[in-house]
Amino acid sequence: MYLQRRNRILRQTPAIRALVAETNLTPNDFIAPIFIDEGSNIQTEIASMPGYYRRSLDLTVADCKELWAMGIKSVLLFIKCKDELKDNKGTEAWNPDGLMQRAIKAIKNAIPEMVVMTDVALDPYSEYGHDGIVHNGEIVNDETVEALVKMSVSHAQAGADIVAPSDMMDGRIGAIRQGLEETGFTKTGILAYSAKYASCFYGPFRDALDSAPGFGDKKTYQMNYANRIEAIKETMMDIEEGADIVMVKPAMAYLDIIREIKNTVDVPVSAYHVSGEYAMIKAAGKMGWIDENKAIIESLTSIKRAGADLIATYFAKDAVRLLG
Ligand code: PBG
Repeated sequence: MYLQRRNRILRQTPAIRALVAETNLTPNDFIAPIFIDEGSNIQTEIASMPGYYRRSLDLTVADCKELWAMGIKSVLLFIKCKDELKDNKGTEAWNPDGLMQRAIKAIKNAIPEMVVMTDVALDPYSEYGHDGIVHNGEIVNDETVEALVKMSVSHAQAGADIVAPSDMMDGRIGAIRQGLEETGFTKTGILAYSAKYASCFYGPFRDALDSAPGFGDKKTYQMNYANRIEAIKETMMDIEEGADIVMVKPAMAYLDIIREIKNTVDVPVSAYHVSGEYAMIKAAGKMGWIDENKAIIESLTSIKRAGADLIATYFAKDAVRLLG
C-alpha cells in the first residue's frame, strides 16, 4: 500500500506517544477530599471505600502535610458530626468551635499555603440527613439558604480559602457571595457544585459521614440525571451569582456534561470523581477483574480530557504516586 497518512507513526514508542499526548495529569489537577472525626489518634477505614479513612484532627493534619509534600495543593473538608449535635436546622454547622472550624484552623496553621476548601450543606449536621431544613417532609429552600450563608461565613472566619456549596438550593451562590461581602470576606472563593445530580454513586460517602437521608431521596434538589440543558442553566446561574469555580458531579457517567460546560463557561471547571466511582474501581481491582492502577490513571485522564481543570478524587495520592 502507498498511504499518504499513517496515524500509527505517532504511536510507535512510549516516547513518541508521550510527546504527542494531548492530556497530562499533574498533582495540580487534584483536590483531595478529607473525612474528619472527633478524638485523637483515630483512623477508621470506610467499609465501602477500602483504603480510604476518616481521621481525627491530629492524623488529618499529618495527612495534609503528606499531601502537600506530594504536590497536592488542595483539600476539600468534610466532617462527621456527633449524633447529639444534629438537629433540623444544622445549628452546629456555624459553631465557631465546631469540628469543621477547628479543622480549618489546624490545617491552615500547619500548612498556610494549602488551599482549604470546605463542603457547605446541612446533611452531616441534619437529624434528617438532608442538605436543607425540613418542614412537613419538605426540604425548604429559602430558610436553608440563610443557614448556608451563616455556615459559609463561619468557614471563612475560621480561615477557609474556598467554600464549596454542595446543597443545590436555589439562589445560594448569590446569597453566600453577598454574605461574604457584607462580613468583609472579600478574598474567600466559592466553588459551586453547579451540576450535581441525584446519583446512586454517593452511597459510600454517606457511609463515611453517617449522612444518608432518613426519609425519601434528594431528587427535589439534586438534578435528574436524564438532563443536560438543565446543567448548563444551573451552571450559568451560579456564575452570574458569583461562583469562582463550577463543578460537575459525579464524573465518569457525566463526561458529556463536563465537556459541554467547559465549552460554555469562562471560569475553571471541576469534576468530582465520587465515592461510588472509587468503590467500583477498588472492588473490581480487588477481585482481579481490572488492573486497579491502570483504571485510576485512565479514569482521571479521561475526566481531564473531557474538560475538567480540577478533579476532586479519593485517588489523588495514588495518582501522584503512579505518575511518579
Ligand atoms: C453533601 C455531599 C455529598 C457528596 C459531597 N457532598 C453527598 C450527597 O449529596 O448526598 C458526595 C461525595 C461522594 O460521593 O464522594 N451534600
